[in-house]
Amino acid sequence: MSQELRTVWWEPGAVCLIDQLRLPHEEVTVRCTELAAVAAAIKTMVVRGAPAIGCTAAYGIALVATQSTATDAPALLRELEAAKATLDAQRPTAVNLAWATTRMLNQARALAPSGLEALRTGMLEEAHAVLHEDLAMCHAIGDYGAPLIPERGHVLTHCNAGGLATAGYGTALAPMRTAASQGRTLHVWVDETRPFLQGARLTAWELREAGIPLTLITDNMAGYMMQSGEVDCIIVGADRIVANGDVANKIGTYSLAVLANFHNIPFYVAAPSSTIDLSLATGDLIPIEQRSSDEVTHLGGQLIAPLGVNAAHPAFDVTPNRLITAIITERGVVYPPFTEGLSTAVRRS
Ligand code: MRU
Repeated sequence: MSQELRTVWWEPGAVCLIDQLRLPHEEVTVRCTELAAVAAAIKTMVVRGAPAIGCTAAYGIALVATQSTATDAPALLRELEAAKATLDAQRPTAVNLAWATTRMLNQARALAPSGLEALRTGMLEEAHAVLHEDLAMCHAIGDYGAPLIPERGHVLTHCNAGGLATAGYGTALAPMRTAASQGRTLHVWVDETRPFLQGARLTAWELREAGIPLTLITDNMAGYMMQSGEVDCIIVGADRIVANGDVANKIGTYSLAVLANFHNIPFYVAAPSSTIDLSLATGDLIPIEQRSSDEVTHLGGQLIAPLGVNAAHPAFDVTPNRLITAIITERGVVYPPFTEGLSTAVRRS
């Protein structure tokens, strides 16, 4: 029940990804053999979810290091810096992307004085470390989060913050996976998550693979379920958590938090410390990715709106800290006021 997924992995000369655009119908591997392919996979959401794109970007940097024809370490370092800029530009809201590439570049700068070969091999080792640490963080989130799920166990989640969105175990889905592996009775309401349908396509697939009972609902059914007393708690992931505890996550998360507050339902955010960005004081400073309106006007490649109609597509929204019951990290559960707990969680890194 608690088995991990393989979302991102390395094969000699390639960053490998499970193609999340083809799920749930087909399990297809995408092999990215050059930086441009890694960047495109992140942009087009072949791979998505904040920690998963961080791991992918780390391997993207390692790919450049293994392929480079640079003749000395400073030249390779310059190539890696350019690769970081390319990767960081693909998706602006999820801070794990820049967190991972910054970590890779810091390690590159530390290794450069030891020479070209040390730098080359060190990059792959660091990317492996990013992946393995992400997996460990997700398991710890599962351990801290499982006891928060009430006994009756009807949990609502939004988007996909599962194994597919991480190195393999998930953030929001980790407490559910852990609770299920402990033999607890559990049922998950899965928001379909318009417009990109990560809930319907990915979370429903992932929970079914894990053997965890679920019911798929459209996003506009969530309020009805809460009003009917059918939701015991909500657990979502995060793309960026800022210093005061405001959280950016998939569009629609804010509406859920408002509804949860009205109905007195605990609202939890689960995320590793790599998602915490203490450089921003408040959520209004978080850049919100605007994606193509085609993702709103089309469903499965089919036009569903009048041709040429305007459509907006902010891909994320910001939930103010006052609507959040607690933030589940790999270092423990942080309760309001969040400022001190979050900075402790990050500083212990
Ligand atoms: O646009 P996506 O699918 O990358 O958005 C994903 C989310 O919003 C997740 O909730 C978040 O990245 C956390 S994933 C562990």
